[in-house]
Amino acid sequence: MSEQPPSPGRILLIDDDEVLCDFLGLQLERRGATVVAERSAEAGLERLAAEDFDVVLCDLHLVGLDGLAFTQEVARRSPQVPVVVITGAATMDTTIAAMRAGAWDFLLKPIDLDLLAVVLDRAAKHRALQGEVVSLRRQGRELAGGLMVGTTPSMKRVYELIDRVAPGDAPVMICGASGTGKELVAAALHAASTRKAGPFVAVNCAAVPAALLESELFGHARGAFTDAKRERKGLFAQADGGTLFLDEIAELPLELQPKLLRALQERRVRPLGGTGEIAFDARLITATNRDLDTEVHERRFREDLFYRINVVRIDVPPLRERHADIVLLARHFLARAAARAGRPLPTLAPAAAEKLLAYEWPGNVRELENCIESAVAVSDGPELNVSDLPAKLRDFQSQRVVLAADSSQDLVTLAELSQRYLNRVLTLLSGNKTRAAQVLGVDRRTLYRMLARGGPSA
Ligand SMILES: Nc1ncnc2c1ncn2[C@@H]1O[C@H](COP(=O)(O)OP(=O)(O)OP(=O)(O)O)[C@@H](O)[C@H]1O
Ligand SMILES: [Mg+2]
Repeated sequence: MSEQPPSPGRILLIDDDEVLCDFLGLQLERRGATVVAERSAEAGLERLAAEDFDVVLCDLHLVGLDGLAFTQEVARRSPQVPVVVITGAATMDTTIAAMRAGAWDFLLKPIDLDLLAVVLDRAAKHRALQGEVVSLRRQGRELAGGLMVGTTPSMKRVYELIDRVAPGDAPVMICGASGTGKELVAAALHAASTRKAGPFVAVNCAAVPAALLESELFGHARGAFTDAKRERKGLFAQADGGTLFLDEIAELPLELQPKLLRALQERRVRPLGGTGEIAFDARLITATNRDLDTEVHERRFREDLFYRINVVRIDVPPLRERHADIVLLARHFLARAAARAGRPLPTLAPAAAEKLLAYEWPGNVRELENCIESAVAVSDGPELNVSDLPAKLRDFQSQRVVLAADSSQDLVTLAELSQRYLNRVLTLLSGNKTRAAQVLGVDRRTLYRMLARGGPSA
């Protein structure tokens, strides 16, 4: 056991066998762990309520509250702390019972110290990962359907708006570039509304063929058209008591727009080919990555419908305007990808974080999510490095020349600025160095020196 790396952290040991407690405690302390021993499950629970532990080691057979009941209690009170159960005779039944109770792993007596070291190590890593997820949760916003991460003022404004408008019934329009998290905002609105127990029905207007969209939305009677073998309930009716989310609303065909307007005004839909009308009670949320004002101006979107759905507007900012959130989101996706792969959580190397910050993220959060997932797939060490990142990030060279920076995050050093300006000049002059030197007011030798220092693609 002494050859093993030290088992980190604080361990709570619960066993009524005094000799075993002392022996294990000594062995673990030799390896650098802090061990607190208790003789009963009751005393262990009290300890756990007062102090923080990385792992709990617990005997299955205890006087009073037994190991299984104890494990269940820990799973309920402190689910982030892994419990390793020690048992004298591991029958299939006790093993299954321990796992069902929420035990993280189990060990047989007599205890193999090397195995114990391995198990404790894995448990401590698991605990660290849990801690990361919990702290991310505190930094973000927990939702029924997921987690919104982000603490920049622009995201805080989004959270505030969600809280303010969620309880009401006014239609909400969510605007933002592709991959910024519009659907997540829609889900958050539903989760924070009084309709949260009702359904959340989402439909992407761009993904459903125009010919089918009407019957999708409003339903149809049997025999309404050739393929209508039986009656179909529309999405409005399905969302009754809940929320209807119409994504990419700018793609709604013009001929359907008056029908949607009518449905919203009268709170009733007319199924295709049917004679009656069906009342519904659903809150409407729409989303678009297009500028709907322009669509209205160019008569591709009806103005009356636009006013009807644009009662409350939530703008989701692009990722490049949320500098402080980039690393936070990256860590969030890193933790998720590692957990899915059953791997210990890698750290994000500072150089890799810098690459993430420098990139301009045309695909926003979704693009970041994909980049981190692919980086985790190729990485194998305890750290995520620049070399694990996709080539577009590794090779990214900002072309922006910031002369009128309107945010302190855009400020760069003079050296960086002159390098970027040099790159820009060369790009605009198709690489003609003689002309570039003239424009920059330097001789060609100076230009070559500058290029050697940074180079247009360095
Ligand atoms: N603040 C956030 N925290 C955590 N994950 C996020 C956040 N914003 C977006 N995501 C994730 O990024 C991905 C894209 O988000 P979403 O689908 O909501 O974007 P969208 O704006 O609807 O995109 P599109 O315009 O392409 O439909 C999703 O996997 C989502 O879970
Ligand atoms: Mg979407």
